[in-house]
Amino acid sequence: MIRSIESAELNLDKNGYLDLEVDPKLDLFGEIARLKEEKRAVILAHYYQDPDIQDVADFTGDSLGLARQAAATGAEMIVFAGVHFMAETAKILNPGKKVLLPDLHAGCSLADSAPAAAFREFRERYPGYTVISYINCSAEVKAMSDIICTSSNAKKIIESLPPDEKIIFAPDKNLGAYLIRQTGRDMVLWNGSCMVHEIFSLEKITRLKARHPEAKVIAHPECEQAVLQVSDFIGSTTGLLNFTRDDPSRSYIVVTETGILHQMEKCSPGKTFIPAPPDNLCACNDCPHMKLNTLEKLYLCMKYEKPELVLEPGLMEAALKPIQRMLEISAS
Ligand code: 13P
Ligand code: SF4
Repeated sequence: MIRSIESAELNLDKNGYLDLEVDPKLDLFGEIARLKEEKRAVILAHYYQDPDIQDVADFTGDSLGLARQAAATGAEMIVFAGVHFMAETAKILNPGKKVLLPDLHAGCSLADSAPAAAFREFRERYPGYTVISYINCSAEVKAMSDIICTSSNAKKIIESLPPDEKIIFAPDKNLGAYLIRQTGRDMVLWNGSCMVHEIFSLEKITRLKARHPEAKVIAHPECEQAVLQVSDFIGSTTGLLNFTRDDPSRSYIVVTETGILHQMEKCSPGKTFIPAPPDNLCACNDCPHMKLNTLEKLYLCMKYEKPELVLEPGLMEAALKPIQRMLEISAS
């Protein structure tokens, strides 16, 4: 039996998405395109989304690209195919617009590793420090930060501050340690990490490299230092994608979430992309949060305009300043 929208609404809090069955004969691509036009909506998708979602999106990008698109969009409604902190950023940049997330429970282990109350106490232990927070954090943590950054612009943001500035970097300790090595700045790090990027096995990457000696190892800076040390190139998802497009090599061992392989294969047909294996037998190089979004949930959320991301106005105002600072610094 197909459930009604009324009963679906009752289920929304528990499930985080509209628990409705979708007719399997429906042309979801066509329906989503129709709804997009009808509702003057824009679909923004992160590279870690399923290939079908990336293909139906108006813009696919990394965290910085998506934030920039959200800041610039003229659409009346933003449908964010990504995780909660990304949709929050889009809402903070567009407080008057409706921002939808296909599954409200699409969270982030890294953002969850910095609970607001504990972060407040931590920050208070370092008076006079400038807080740079990676965009993978909650709106509450953003509101307690001075500048936001992403993996694309973090080095530039740190280097925009005077050399003697005392800095707290949160919440990713791996990215933070990488940035300390890159910039020579002695930053205080929050002890957080991403469950996907921490699970890659150096041993298995080394074995894979022995089998494919011609392949370049390319990694996201959320990975641990031991993995980054054996990498030929380190960059954000857009950085990795551009590298594989422009580099003359023919094959790559890709040490990040597998969703990016879709764009790499599209941009460089004929090249080989080998996903780096995790430290166990599960598909842990798929982000379980990102993969909560499906094409069906995307369609339902556009049709019924639910679930909607709602934030308190005061919180949005406080979180906007450090995001704007990031956009200003990284625009030049
Ligand atoms: P970027 O897309 O900014 O590289 O970040 C990767 C990530 O982990 C997003 O959650
Ligand atoms: Fe968060 Fe890691 Fe998933 Fe990105 S890949 S959303 S950092 S858990």
